[in-house]
Amino acid sequence: MRKRILTGDRPTGKLHLGHYVGSLASRVKLQDEYECFFIIADYHTLTTAPEKEKVRRLSSLTRELVLDYLSVGIDPAKATIYLQSQVPEVCELSLIFGMLVGISRLQRVPTLKDMIRDLKIENPSFGLLGYPVLQAADILMVRANLVPVGKDQVSHVELTREIARKFNKLYGKVFPEPEPLVGEVPTLVGIDGKKKMSKSLGNCIFLSDPPEEVERKVMMMYTDPARIHPTDPGHVEGNPVFIYHDAFNSNKEEVEELKDRYRKGTVGDVEVKRKLARAINDFLSPIRKRREAFSGKEGIIEEILGEGREKVRREAVSTLSRVKKAMGLAL
Ligand code: TRP
Repeated sequence: MRKRILTGDRPTGKLHLGHYVGSLASRVKLQDEYECFFIIADYHTLTTAPEKEKVRRLSSLTRELVLDYLSVGIDPAKATIYLQSQVPEVCELSLIFGMLVGISRLQRVPTLKDMIRDLKIENPSFGLLGYPVLQAADILMVRANLVPVGKDQVSHVELTREIARKFNKLYGKVFPEPEPLVGEVPTLVGIDGKKKMSKSLGNCIFLSDPPEEVERKVMMMYTDPARIHPTDPGHVEGNPVFIYHDAFNSNKEEVEELKDRYRKGTVGDVEVKRKLARAINDFLSPIRKRREAFSGKEGIIEEILGEGREKVRREAVSTLSRVKKAMGLAL
């Protein structure tokens, strides 16, 4: 049997090139080799944003996220895309798992500490502390073997393994111990040259940006700060414009030639950027086409999520019944 994968995202906004490089590209490959489940974790957003205005935005954010998935080539005929809140069994499993984890263990989870600090949360909710427990329930609900995540989420998979082990030890073996699958790809720098492309830093090129927007953003990108005139020899290494050329320009000869001329001081930033904008637009072109094709199909998102829900619920019901039987909870 094919190994199972579960991963996903919170619906917090449009996906960008950093997401593509960091996770989407690998998901598109993984769906051919593994049985993949992609979760849209809307309940997880409530842990930091339970306000009504924010909750009401979730349905449109979810639609956009599904469209982003489809546009890059995640294929609902191969992979299961589903919305967390449509699978209520996850709450039951999360409740049971909550009994198997100590509070102090959760207080040591680094991502939670970061969230509390970054968002200046004075009084973290019970739900926020339970964030990784809910995530463990997502993962173990489908009895996933592999969990592709960013480095920051490895601690959540580690906790998931501890929960699986603890459950199996107490009640008998129900769960596999899932492994994190961390990509090799380094994080993509932002257009402002900051370490990471991130929505909160406002330095993103989105997968859904129209061509003119991509051009506008590329033309204002940071390059080599030490270079003043186009005739100055410039630095290619660590230069955001060339990092992007390497990542998105399929014409490798052009990239090498530009690098060579840049080092010698025989090409200006404007030409390098124009060519980059064109390359990124070429890269985004099939993504835009797929997005357009799917957005034109009335009801398609509901249909995909509906099918995903059915598929996951079959797994969920079966897992929960095994859980309750193992525990001796079932009648
Ligand atoms: N916590 C993940 C994030 O913010 C989203 C997520 C929820 C997830 N449940 C998951 C990721 C299960 C992997 C597996 O990115």
